[in-house]
Amino acid sequence: MKTELQAMFEKQFGKEQLTYYFSPGRINLIGEHTDYNGGHVFPSAISLGTYGVAAKRQDRKICLYSENFKETGTITFSLDTLEYEVKDKWANYPKGVIRYLIEAGANITTGLDILFYGTIPNGAGLSSSASIELLTAVILKDLFQLKNSMLDLVKIGKKVENEFIHVNSGIMDQFAIGMGKKDKAILLDCATLEYELVPVELGAYCIVIMNTNKRRELSDSKYNERRAECERALEQLQKELAISALGELDELTFEANKKLIDNEVLYRRARHAVTENQRTLQAKDALTKGDLVTFGKLLNASHTSLKEDYEVTGIELDTLVAAAQKQAGVLGARMTGAGFGGCSIALVKTQNAAEFIKKVGSEYQAQIGYSADFYTATIHEGAGILN
Ligand code: GLA
Repeated sequence: MKTELQAMFEKQFGKEQLTYYFSPGRINLIGEHTDYNGGHVFPSAISLGTYGVAAKRQDRKICLYSENFKETGTITFSLDTLEYEVKDKWANYPKGVIRYLIEAGANITTGLDILFYGTIPNGAGLSSSASIELLTAVILKDLFQLKNSMLDLVKIGKKVENEFIHVNSGIMDQFAIGMGKKDKAILLDCATLEYELVPVELGAYCIVIMNTNKRRELSDSKYNERRAECERALEQLQKELAISALGELDELTFEANKKLIDNEVLYRRARHAVTENQRTLQAKDALTKGDLVTFGKLLNASHTSLKEDYEVTGIELDTLVAAAQKQAGVLGARMTGAGFGGCSIALVKTQNAAEFIKKVGSEYQAQIGYSADFYTATIHEGAGILN
């Protein structure tokens, strides 16, 4: 990979003194739409991700080029004008990271040339944007010897998403990508940022990632809407309950107080947040014990809740997941990420995987009219220098 990356960089920037970096994408095993509700998530970093090659410049220019958006050419701006610009498209993610690192005190004194090459399919909901954010952050940390911890970089990535791009997302994606460890899932308490690394030991099973190929880009407004609905449900519960997030409630307490929520839709949204958080904790226990059957059932229950209570799935994800769930050797399947398109995951017996892909693929094609893509997940280390 380094040889290819070097050739790409030399062609674009004509330099040789380079360092190479990699930042993964992520899947979330379970715990969806719980991060911004103060609940738990259970993601892993994956081997699909973004490669970067970078070198310092003598001047104050930042020159960014992506092999994935060749038609856009090199996007150039100065260290002195780090404002969001629609015309800069994908380059707003690295730009935001540079800006907030400087605002946080980073001594970034010269410009940079950076080449990006991503292997995450575009719009697949595997967090290509957080991958680019953390890639940029680790490049700057390395080249300018910054003292920031990985958690600082994770928080800067989230800030870019929230305040520079204006998507009100939670911390899961950046955390998984920054803090990920090979063959581990991260049980993260999003209220306290305490976390535990759990070995993903699947024995005879593997995780197949299934891409609907329905882009989830236009979903940001729906995402913000769900978040607002949860906030309204929380406010209503707070009339009598001393809680600061839905993630603090167990199901019994929630059900006992449901009369406080005056609207059926808000009730269902909150019910998802509460039950999904419980499922996430149960799934972590099941995986720790090697009880993959229970783990798979929780994946299925998560999808049902996202479909019926949270309403963030849609025909493409539902078709793919339903087709997956009924195949031989499958213990469970669910959408992963924000929803409204993007990817699902399935826990499949490795010896059945090829047949699984064939059957689910043809059922999806027949019902939706275009094909799905499939990848086997390899759980990867978080963002850093490429070895
Ligand atoms: C997106 C967001 C995350 C999280 C998920 C849903 O990936 O970026 O913060 O909310 O959706 O679980």
